[in-house]
Amino acid sequence: MELLKKLCEAFGPSGCEEEISAVIKEEMRPFADEIYSDSMGNLICHKKGSGKKIMYAAHMDEIGLMVTFIEETGYLRCAQIGYLPPHYSINRFVKFENGTVGVVAYEKEHEANLRQEKVFIDIGAKSKEEAEKKVSVGDCCCVMSHFAIMGDKVASKTLDNRVSCYALIRAAKEMKSDNDIYYVFTTQEEVGLRGAGPAAFKIEPDIAICIDVTMNGDTPECGKNSLKLGGGTAIKVMDHSVITGLEVRNKLISLAKENDISYQMEVITGGGTDAGAIHTVKGGVLTGAVSIPMRYIHSATETADISDIENTVKLIKAFGEATH
Ligand code: CO
Ligand code: ZN
Repeated sequence: MELLKKLCEAFGPSGCEEEISAVIKEEMRPFADEIYSDSMGNLICHKKGSGKKIMYAAHMDEIGLMVTFIEETGYLRCAQIGYLPPHYSINRFVKFENGTVGVVAYEKEHEANLRQEKVFIDIGAKSKEEAEKKVSVGDCCCVMSHFAIMGDKVASKTLDNRVSCYALIRAAKEMKSDNDIYYVFTTQEEVGLRGAGPAAFKIEPDIAICIDVTMNGDTPECGKNSLKLGGGTAIKVMDHSVITGLEVRNKLISLAKENDISYQMEVITGGGTDAGAIHTVKGGVLTGAVSIPMRYIHSATETADISDIENTVKLIKAFGEATH
């Protein structure tokens, strides 16, 4: 879990993925023949082989806030990077890339109808001038949190999607295959699946597998879906961005059965993931997706089950090894 913690804590709001990219690059170095970043910032780790060209994709960016305006009084106004509504960020610490720490606050009179424009970040500056010594308009920050193991579960900020980056690094480490494999850690997923498509366009994979987190259906009054924490890795059928390729989906199901990997089927009506951007690239890419069920998505206390993470590692590894 040390590696997962390190990945969750690394800085990387959409468009500012340099730090998390460097952390993953270090981890992937032993398992790739070449590693490079493309012009979108996607980190591409290529393990050369003579078989099928497989692209695995996990987004490495996280949600956050961007400074839009600095008040004369030194308070910062901010915009959401991806879906980070005010009730998720207020009363939390945030951290900027240069280490500046702030707290997210609001005026009590706006409590009933809290809108992003009424939220501000206090970095302890007494004036605009003082604030500008630490941050500028356009700077990004992310919410800070704890990393905790709670029985079978793990809770942290940014498990979306560092938990999948973790699973992909583990799979790469254990993979025994002569396929031509691209492990791609994509950028800007949280602002509209922007990095993955261009990466797939360039790589032209025979098959793509996307790894991300998905909504659970097992808290007391949540919208119903069949996904449970601890119920196994989730094989995606559909979300708002994709209906996965039947051939890949069936292959994932049979591999899970053959290898005794617990799995559940994923059908959700909202949300999208990189598979949505990848499958329509060029003449179309045969694309599947494997998800890790998660509670409290986009909060600073995202929660996942450790056995689901392990089952995800096993299934994506099995897919790479069994594809010919
Ligand atoms: Co997300
Ligand atoms: Zn995600």
